[in-house]
Amino acid sequence: MLKGLIFDLDGVLTNSARFHLSAWNDLAKELGITLDSKQLDALRGLSRMDSLNLILEFGNQTDKYSEAEKEKFAAKKNANFVACIQKMTPDDILPGIMQLLKDAKAQNLKMAIASASKNAPTILNKLDIIDEFDEIVDPATLHHGKPDPEIYVRAQELLGLKPDEVISFEDAAAGVQAIKAANQFAVGIGDADVLKADYTVSDTSKLNLKEIETAFNKYQESRES
Ligand code: BG6
Ligand code: MG
Repeated sequence: MLKGLIFDLDGVLTNSARFHLSAWNDLAKELGITLDSKQLDALRGLSRMDSLNLILEFGNQTDKYSEAEKEKFAAKKNANFVACIQKMTPDDILPGIMQLLKDAKAQNLKMAIASASKNAPTILNKLDIIDEFDEIVDPATLHHGKPDPEIYVRAQELLGLKPDEVISFEDAAAGVQAIKAANQFAVGIGDADVLKADYTVSDTSKLNLKEIETAFNKYQESRES
């Protein structure tokens, strides 16, 4: 039985993913690395350091910099990102999300945030929706980033629920892999072929809790039989 919803933040509740990608793109350019759209897409959902390491790998610069230099690059990217999110307001909540949260509340579903971003609480405050969530995973307490399941397992445990009692939402392939490795039902937002989720919508305006729950129930029944 469905008892909880777990949400990624960037690219799911709000369009802040674009700020991450443009800030990484700026840094990559400075390092003399040109990223194509597929490479930029591969950064979605990855932790700060995992993102930087992947960019250096794309640019064949894996061993070029010391850890201290990499920390500086990551801090520069973060400063750029933090500057971008200052202008965010509740108008930046993606279409369909407020209705989804309202429908979930009406069903007494518990809700958690499973974002790899250390900036998640700031963004949730800017959007004025932080109080909607029962739990927010602190990514600083995790040992592994997405696609490792740790963040989704932690969110589900914080809610006191089992894997077959939650639905998790992601816009990143690495995030969907994390959800599936946690044995949870994955809702993808974006390209179904790229995300490989259990249920996919092209954008958040198409999210409908009743329809998603029907797909979730079918999936759980097929797993029991
Ligand atoms: C994820 C984003 O939510 O958070 C990634 O999808 C980002 O792009 C990651 O790298 C870490 O975010 P931050 O804000 O801690 O650098
Ligand atoms: Mg995301």
